[in-house]
Amino acid sequence: MRDQLENLRSGAKQAIAATSTVEQLQEIRISLLGRKGELTALMKGLGAMDAADRPVIGQLVNAVRDDIESLLSSAIESAQEQAIAARLQDERIDVSLPGRRSQKGTKHPITLVIEEVCAIFSGLGFSVAEGPEIEHDWYNFEALNFPPEHPARDMQDTFFVGNNLLLRTHTSPVQIRTMLKQKPPVRIIAPGTVYRCDSDATHSPMFHQIEGLMVDTKVTFGDLKGVLTVFTNQLFGQKTGVRLRPSYFPFTEPSAEVDIACVICGGKGCRVCKNSGWLEILGAGMVDPEVYRHVQYDAEQISGFAFGMGIERIAMLKYGISDMRLLFENDVRFLRQF
Ligand code: DAH
Repeated sequence: MRDQLENLRSGAKQAIAATSTVEQLQEIRISLLGRKGELTALMKGLGAMDAADRPVIGQLVNAVRDDIESLLSSAIESAQEQAIAARLQDERIDVSLPGRRSQKGTKHPITLVIEEVCAIFSGLGFSVAEGPEIEHDWYNFEALNFPPEHPARDMQDTFFVGNNLLLRTHTSPVQIRTMLKQKPPVRIIAPGTVYRCDSDATHSPMFHQIEGLMVDTKVTFGDLKGVLTVFTNQLFGQKTGVRLRPSYFPFTEPSAEVDIACVICGGKGCRVCKNSGWLEILGAGMVDPEVYRHVQYDAEQISGFAFGMGIERIAMLKYGISDMRLLFENDVRFLRQF
């Protein structure tokens, strides 16, 4: 019996030393110490022994069991530590690896021009105003001195959306909304989307404008020309200045069309400026007293100027884009260039 126990102990030592995984160690525990295990089987033989031998062998059984038990626990503990270490090694994150870049979008050229124009005018003391894209006839036409049946309404191919409601054909109604809300002095610019029933290489049914309005006690036509000269010089980075030609708008008197020296040829004449050396970029004028009447401003006390420009045209000139449709196709190869 004593020999059998010693054999069991040394066999167990060897088996445990040769094993490295937690699962295998658990199996060894079951096969030695479990209910049907080898040591348990030997203990069953104790009953048939001499009463004198029994306590001695009994002690030995306990010692062998404790021995195996403690060998197993420390082997299991170190196997667990190894498993954790291996897992940590496995799942280590290499912080020195370069990250995956997410694809960044770019700003649309229309947005870039709107931002730049707004920045220039905010430097001149103008703040940004907004108005709805679905507009009442009254704000879009009537209050701007387009009476019903006025022929100037035909110049703006209007999308009507309901009883006296339309998609605004210009940003000028924001002038009216601003003056109804606030007393002079007024200095605003109003960027936004406008709509006209027109579509070809140079016209889109949806496009963008920026409106400007300045009203105060002594605003003159000279102020208008000065502000627009500072603006165009900053936007196009040239000292050529502007040229004003007489024109007509119902809401301004006098009215002018504003040209800048051609940014492509510098005024020598080319295909873009149709050999004139000049490019038309906006409409402007002194606010008509009839407009002040609609917003209850006193035309005897105040004066002001207004102007409006198409963003698409400015973006095309500024970035040398030849076909307006490129601005609305959203081809990322085109858009990424800005
Ligand atoms: N609203 C005009 C248009 O869409 C542009 C314009 C011209 C606006 C003269 C103005 C202005 O404020 O004074 O054709």
